[in-house]
Amino acid sequence: MEYTMETLAAACADCHKCALGDTRTNLVFGTGNQNADLMFVGEAPGEQEDLSGIPFVGRAGQLLDKFLYAVDIERKDVYIANILKCRPPKNRDPLPAEEEACIGYLREQVRLIRPRIIVCLGRISAMKLIKPDFKISKEHGQWFERGNFLMTAVYHPAALLRDPRRKEEMLEDMKAIAQKLTELRADETK
Ligand code: URA
Repeated sequence: MEYTMETLAAACADCHKCALGDTRTNLVFGTGNQNADLMFVGEAPGEQEDLSGIPFVGRAGQLLDKFLYAVDIERKDVYIANILKCRPPKNRDPLPAEEEACIGYLREQVRLIRPRIIVCLGRISAMKLIKPDFKISKEHGQWFERGNFLMTAVYHPAALLRDPRRKEEMLEDMKAIAQKLTELRADETK
């Protein structure tokens, strides 16, 4: 089936492929620019996201906003989604079966948006999207070529709230992402 973002969101809204569809308050489909060059993918909605239906609006999201601001990227220009569209109870890690049930929606989102860069926010997203043995403390900020786009991973902002010493590395990674985006756009106009 050929989806548009609207029909995909509608299909997702009715989803009960896993048990999280029964416990969610709101589906957290994804928000932002549907033609974004830059896409961020987190893990799963937390409490504030479940209540609002919008990804990364809680404390971790506010910290992500600060990093976007620091490197001159506007949140409205990027697209933000998660591996899971529904909140796991008490914010536990996603189960493999939940990831499998949900990942098709993310794949369709990527197909529709066609970003140049996908940034995994945190270990869980990087392990699902880049490689299963991804080591976030060692491999954050590295680039991985995937067909038409580049992928990288940065620390999850919630991890930075727990360990603020890593914020400097996050800032360096975010600067490199902004720089790579500028380079890709410059190549396109050549
Ligand atoms: N953490 C995530 O991984 N995603 C959100 O949307 C919020 C917090």
